[in-house]
Amino acid sequence: MKLYCRNWSFCSCFVSLLLLLSPMLLLAQSAGSGLNNPKIDERVNALLKQMTLEEKIGQLVQYSAGDATGPEKARIAYKARLSKGQIGSLYNLTGAREVNAMQKIAVDESRLHVPLIFALDVIHGYRTTFPVPLGLSATWNPALVEKDSRIAAEEATSEGIRWTLSPMVDIARDARWGRITEGAGEDPYLGAAMARAYVRGYQGANLTDASSMVACVKHYVGYGAAEGGRDYNTTDMSERALRQVYLPPFKAALDAGAATLMSAFNSLQYVPASANRFTLTEILRDEWGFRGFVVSDWAAITELIEHGIANDEATAARKSLAAGVDMDMVSGAYANTLLDQVRGGKIPESVVDEAARRILRVKFAMGLFEHPYADESKSPITTLDPEHVAAARTSAEESFVLLKNETSTGGKSLLPLASNVRTIALIGPMADSAADMLGSWSAAGQAKDVITLRASLSDRMKESGGKLLYAKGTEFGSPSDAGFAEALSIAQQSDVVLMALGEPASDTGEAGSRTRLGLPENQEKLLHAVVATGKPVVLILFDGRPLTLVWEAANVPAILEAWYPGVQAGPAVVRTLFGDVNPSGRLTASFPRTVGQEPLYYNALNTGRPATVDLSSPPTNTVEKYLSRYLDETNSALYPFGFGLSYTKFQLSPPTVSTQSASAKALNDSAAKLTVAADVKNIGGRAGAEVVELYIQERGTSVARPVRELKGFRKVTLAPGESQRVEFTLGRDELAFWNIDMKNVVEPCDLTIWIAPSSVEGSPAEVTIEP
Ligand code: BGC
Repeated sequence: MKLYCRNWSFCSCFVSLLLLLSPMLLLAQSAGSGLNNPKIDERVNALLKQMTLEEKIGQLVQYSAGDATGPEKARIAYKARLSKGQIGSLYNLTGAREVNAMQKIAVDESRLHVPLIFALDVIHGYRTTFPVPLGLSATWNPALVEKDSRIAAEEATSEGIRWTLSPMVDIARDARWGRITEGAGEDPYLGAAMARAYVRGYQGANLTDASSMVACVKHYVGYGAAEGGRDYNTTDMSERALRQVYLPPFKAALDAGAATLMSAFNSLQYVPASANRFTLTEILRDEWGFRGFVVSDWAAITELIEHGIANDEATAARKSLAAGVDMDMVSGAYANTLLDQVRGGKIPESVVDEAARRILRVKFAMGLFEHPYADESKSPITTLDPEHVAAARTSAEESFVLLKNETSTGGKSLLPLASNVRTIALIGPMADSAADMLGSWSAAGQAKDVITLRASLSDRMKESGGKLLYAKGTEFGSPSDAGFAEALSIAQQSDVVLMALGEPASDTGEAGSRTRLGLPENQEKLLHAVVATGKPVVLILFDGRPLTLVWEAANVPAILEAWYPGVQAGPAVVRTLFGDVNPSGRLTASFPRTVGQEPLYYNALNTGRPATVDLSSPPTNTVEKYLSRYLDETNSALYPFGFGLSYTKFQLSPPTVSTQSASAKALNDSAAKLTVAADVKNIGGRAGAEVVELYIQERGTSVARPVRELKGFRKVTLAPGESQRVEFTLGRDELAFWNIDMKNVVEPCDLTIWIAPSSVEGSPAEVTIEP
């Protein structure tokens, strides 16, 4: 057995730990590892028997030992508590040496030597920063997300982080919500695929591997449905919407083996998610059989007081614990009150036992008792691994979504740029802003690792003998137009203008809600002025959410959505602009025309009065008026879910289905499946990748079903002229839904199937699902 300790004092403590646990270790070694391993349960139970009530409660307590990521109420003298076994987890601490120093106190000085589990928000990379998750989801490439997550795990675990507070799998249908940047967008099917990919990547093949990082799927549940898109706000929805839309990515992550889950800040059906027994126990434990542990979000337990369902810390603690929250992230309510409450008979000790059991089960399953320490012989990550950097560039390139590509004259498309373009004007506050390229949550990411668009473009122009002119033009948050003149002057001198605009990263992510979704005002003014010069303009957007781009879509010839691309922002954008790579990203969240359309999502219900024509002008008669529509705007997205252009063109054949009629009973009871196929052909002049998307609609069912739902996708790379047959199967997993009796079943219905390049295109095939 390899011991992860370098000096004698670590090892001596370890020997005593081994002696204490050796009979259990032997059993575990012969039985492998995992949350369902009965040998691990035996070890947990044996340990629990030795623990005092104080020590068991200690396992339920987490503190932040580094920078706070929420209101600063969490600072305590945690070192003294560690030696008494009063803390189960620390987070926000990085560096093997620092982590080991804390671990040494827990393992050496506490009576039963129970190791700590160290957490961090490793959200889209550790030191090597990948695109933000919304960008990663736009790749429609789970294998790539899995690879990036594996890299994140390798880097983070080498610095002692064995637990990441990721993935965020909240479905987000409202771009006002800043945290839309942290997830996979609006669709549960895609969200589930991405959730699985993150978990597989983080946790690797075996939780006991030193490079495995336990995933924490969050925020359970409904957090992304915050009313008005305002962070932390109320969520209310039917149980059907919860099960149909919001729960599937959580279930997928847990089925992929995610060992922990975080309870959310919001209230759901008037019960705060961090005290919600229905979701935390009835669904999570009783229905799904989850055997890992639940940690609350930051201080979410004491926030029950603000929610109004507890008048003091003790009640808050009691309610959260009873509902199924095992670990208290920083609020202190468990540490401060559980002991007295159990002693006073208000909480059965068995409830504390069960929470401690779940936490210890994960610690054993991770092999923490055998390997509590990070390997300090691995030097801290001071430079980026070239392979990781290459992966970051590929991910950034695959995440970019080409929203528009024309010329004002209707001639050849503006992109890709000619390799011999003589003079480029690069304008905008994003062009050289390294820190913003990291997006929100950058773990150990550093701005100095980022290659900006300006730096990369400058190299490219030097190589080609062209000239790069640069002007920032405006500052974030400043109304001043003092920089406009210089920007306009370089625009006039150029053959093409690249406008690098967007939202400062700090305006996205947690507590980053906005009511206005246009480009920040001064940037919009600058863009108008530059476009007015008549020069061809490419708008490159760096942001973390869908923006409202009606003016831009009408007036700017080429628009590339680049999100926050991470450390390889510059090279990825430059290679895309010059056509070294062909953009293949597709939107995973609808881009509204105006904020008033939010929440906006493609998989909506039809209503009884659907606006069948996209009506943008005011109604002229009662037929046009009494529809589910706005008087002043169309219903449709400006850029819909699934949409994205390419430098080449693809053609999709109408779908063919294996049968015109199928039996609901057979689909429910057996592995019966329909097959749907189409040919996709590259009919343009360049190699490229198309995302082939499969959508369905079910009509005549016991409850209303969405106008379209994604039920399959495949990313296909094709040379010019090449074609490929893409085949999908539809079975119970894809066709079942939560019906009128709240049963997840396939019902008899008329089924329409599209194989399409976006959620608003494609020709349909019809199938009847008989009883
Ligand atoms: C966020 C979580 C995060 C936690 C710890 C909270 O404010 O909502 O997503 O994991 O802080 O940093």
